Amino acid sequence: MTDLSHLDSIVDDPDSITEVVLKAMSETDDARLKQIVDALVRHAHAFFREIRLTDPEFEKGLEFVKAIGQATVDDHNEVVLCADVLGFSTLITLLNTADRTNRTPGALLGPFYRGNSPEYADGDSIVAAGSPGAPLFVRCRVVNTAGEAVKNAVVDVWQASPVGLYENQDPEQPDMNLRGRFHTDADGFFRFRSVRPAGYPVPTHGPVGKLLESQHRHPYRPAHIHFVIIADGYETLVSQVFADDSEHLGSDVVFGVNRALVGKFLAHEDGKAPALDVSGLYYTLEYEFVVAEGTPTYPTPPIK
Ligand SMILES: [Fe+2]
Repeated sequence: MTDLSHLDSIVDDPDSITEVVLKAMSETDDARLKQIVDALVRHAHAFFREIRLTDPEFEKGLEFVKAIGQATVDDHNEVVLCADVLGFSTLITLLNTADRTNRTPGALLGPFYRGNSPEYADGDSIVAAGSPGAPLFVRCRVVNTAGEAVKNAVVDVWQASPVGLYENQDPEQPDMNLRGRFHTDADGFFRFRSVRPAGYPVPTHGPVGKLLESQHRHPYRPAHIHFVIIADGYETLVSQVFADDSEHLGSDVVFGVNRALVGKFLAHEDGKAPALDVSGLYYTLEYEFVVAEGTPTYPTPPIK
């Protein structure tokens, strides 16, 4: 028999492969990439050993990964959705904002963020003319961890309509409806007019929908508004504010609800509305965002 003892990278049994793979990857130049892929390999190998993954199960898993890629198109990102419903996105967001300061916690970016939102002046409406819904007047402030105003921050907002659809999902809404970009004033405030958003089911037409069904999970998110706040000298805050009276507040399918992110959507049945054209029921929301010192980053929109 040929002597192969000098070939120490030959894998003869399940116990030896992890070390062999780690050694094969040991020349990686980028130290952080090496750390990430090494840990991925160690944890994945341990996971396969623990559950004794069978060949058909492995094939099914690979098919699932292929399917989430194939279900991702310009205006729908099934890969992000998958990360969201498995709690990956929320865990990563919380890990990156869970320090001891009083900063506002982050919440997942989600699959519906688009770049190039329309620019609006303070107090403008993000609602296209004729769109239905109870008027909502939002007044927010951005401060730093010392409580000082953060002026001239760029604030991207986006939300679902009163029927629970983002404009890119809904042929009834004009392009970029219920999305906008604002700037904080000298005292850190920004204000806008909108309509009260509804909660909504995440898209279930793809492989993630089938997964949720097999887990007997509902696909709903409670009503919320998304915010991205970018300011010089501060870490970018990607977050969401949830309606305090929304259904599914305690069972968000993507685990985004944080107690600190529940806002008071105050109903006003009568009284003088902040706009002349409003009569009857309207809502107001006031919320203060606290951002931490750091270097801003720019999230990549998951859809066009
Ligand atoms: Fe959302």
